[in-house]
Amino acid sequence: MSKDLCKGPIGVFDSGYGGMTILREFVRTLPGYDFIYLGDNARTPYGNRSFETIYAYTLDAVKLLFGMDCPLVILACNTASSRALRTIQQRDLPVLAPSRRVLGVIRPTVEVLDALSKTKHLGVMGTLGTVSSNSYPLEINKLFPHIILTQEPCPIWVPLVENGEIDNPGSDYFVKQHLDRIMERDPQIDVLLLACTHYPLLLNSINRHAPPGVTIVPQDRIVAESLSDYLSRHREIDERCTRNGAIVYYTTDSTEMFDASCRSLFGIDIESKRIAF
Ligand code: DGL
Repeated sequence: MSKDLCKGPIGVFDSGYGGMTILREFVRTLPGYDFIYLGDNARTPYGNRSFETIYAYTLDAVKLLFGMDCPLVILACNTASSRALRTIQQRDLPVLAPSRRVLGVIRPTVEVLDALSKTKHLGVMGTLGTVSSNSYPLEINKLFPHIILTQEPCPIWVPLVENGEIDNPGSDYFVKQHLDRIMERDPQIDVLLLACTHYPLLLNSINRHAPPGVTIVPQDRIVAESLSDYLSRHREIDERCTRNGAIVYYTTDSTEMFDASCRSLFGIDIESKRIAF
């Protein structure tokens, strides 16, 4: 069997801990499937980096996960999805591994947005990279041109999460600042999408400061349901995803820090492995 046609775990990639919010939902929705999580904690945050750097880092991660026999890799990171996915799918995949797949989180999220809003005024909170890529406005405009979209970059939110500053007066200040800014720009917004995998970890604070009547939408369930649907429609990929209920965690930085953060942020005990590009 050629290496490209291998069987193996589903690879889940994020720039740091944020993708764990997505992995958690994958495991709930697809119990029994094997997963490999890769967090590039040594180089996080990606959000403020250039297009070229985010693309190069993301390609490194995809190659690494392909090297571990993943037939399918999910870029759980919005920043990586918005900056690197298209180039990887169109330019790299045909050369690297034509029978494997790399999917992102933006399209599946956009598909469900219209149904969530009454006013059809929506807000997207994301990293600088995601917002400046205009991926959300472009995708929304293709499917739902009637939606009025406002974007708000929140460059400080990821560093707050990565440093465990998630439910205190300091993090509250910055959460409120960005919520106030986007609501001032469009007071008719009734749905705010958390378009970054890290942001659900600030959910307590976000819920405290979001105006009443505004629905806060994290992506984890949306993306997990979309993956489940994808696998049911693509049997040729599904049957290459192994099912022993195994989850392996890799970080590019300290395993002690990764394990401790997973304990405090997600309440899980894991033993991650360190990996370098
Ligand atoms: N978690 C990533 C996302 O969903 C971004 C984090 C970062 O800036 O590295 O956009």
